[in-house]
Amino acid sequence: MRKIYIRTSCPYEVIIERGGIKKCGEYISAVTKSRKAAVITDDTVQKLYADTVAGSLKDNGFECSVFAFPNGEQSKNLSTFGQILDFLCESGITRSDIIIALGGGVVGDITGFAAACYLRGVDFVQIPTTLLAQVDSSVGGKTAIDITGGKNLVGAFKQPSLVICDSDTLKTLTPENLSCGMAEVIKYGMIRDSHLFEMLENHTLENVDEIMDEIVYTCIDIKRDVVEGDEFDRGERMILNFGHTIGHAIEGWHSYTDYTHGMGVAAGMCLITDRFAPELSERLKKCVLAYNLPIGTEAPIAELLPYCSKDKKREYGNISYIVCTTVGKAEIRKSTVSEFEKAMGE
Ligand code: NAD
Ligand code: GLY
Repeated sequence: MRKIYIRTSCPYEVIIERGGIKKCGEYISAVTKSRKAAVITDDTVQKLYADTVAGSLKDNGFECSVFAFPNGEQSKNLSTFGQILDFLCESGITRSDIIIALGGGVVGDITGFAAACYLRGVDFVQIPTTLLAQVDSSVGGKTAIDITGGKNLVGAFKQPSLVICDSDTLKTLTPENLSCGMAEVIKYGMIRDSHLFEMLENHTLENVDEIMDEIVYTCIDIKRDVVEGDEFDRGERMILNFGHTIGHAIEGWHSYTDYTHGMGVAAGMCLITDRFAPELSERLKKCVLAYNLPIGTEAPIAELLPYCSKDKKREYGNISYIVCTTVGKAEIRKSTVSEFEKAMGE
């Protein structure tokens, strides 16, 4: 077992352990005095892991209820949010009890937001079961839901009380979903860690499980460092968005259907690198392809640009975007939207 301590305004530990999910009750009892828990999950993860989690909680003296919603991004909305709040209320969850998010980034984001709002804030624990959720969304306290106007437009900063990452749970992911998480892992290598990037270059999607614990640990440690320096996303934390401005535009252009978040980020990293650091492009693309991710999109750049100018990272007509100047180093660049469009369109 390895642990990473996150020193944010509400500090907490991340436990990284194969098989850790089976001991979650023991770990959760150490962060709450309550013995009443509500587990929020989706229907796919419920079938795979809810009994293990509920069993471990009960073995450790918890009274526990489980709520599952249909899996997928389309559930990360106000309607599911309302159902979760009603479930917490009907289950008699009080301010001193504990809420558990068991699943991928969708479950983590919506449950974290419910935990931030219900009774003005109840402690919650993240048990992330996708690679993306383990290396990114479960750590750092960003919670959100989608509204008609866009993705993640309503949310709150709410740090979890504990994160339990069990990389054995990644064995049940589809190859597509594992690839999606690998896009974020490649991102960490590009922005902060050339050694991680080299490890990725020496593996492929087929044998990456051999180094999964090292990957999860390294990525969370990078995220820890970035989040501790800028918990509320006012500056440095933006480097985590390498590839995301274009990536979100690609996802939007494809109406959030045939392009997953990871595919968008992978193609976005390649497109921005092609434009602003072409000497790194070949190396990046080779790595992206080894994890079955796309290096581009059929969407014409001109049609992606209107989506970029709607990006959340836009302020007062300016846009921020991230450029890797070498493998392992990134910088935040700011320009007017029109300068950015011109540079991308050239
Ligand atoms: P997801 O939660 O939809 O999970 C993808 C699919 O995998 C779902 O169908 C789910 O049921 C299934 N699944 C989950 N765990 C499984 C397992 N162990 N075995 C088999 N199937 C499993 O998607 P995701 O990719 O985990 O997360 C994407 C979401 O995360 C987006 O909503 C995005 O906005 C959000 N996100 C948030 C942050 C943040 O900092 N809060 C960061 C990045 C992404
Ligand atoms: N996933 C980006 C962030 O946490 O800031």
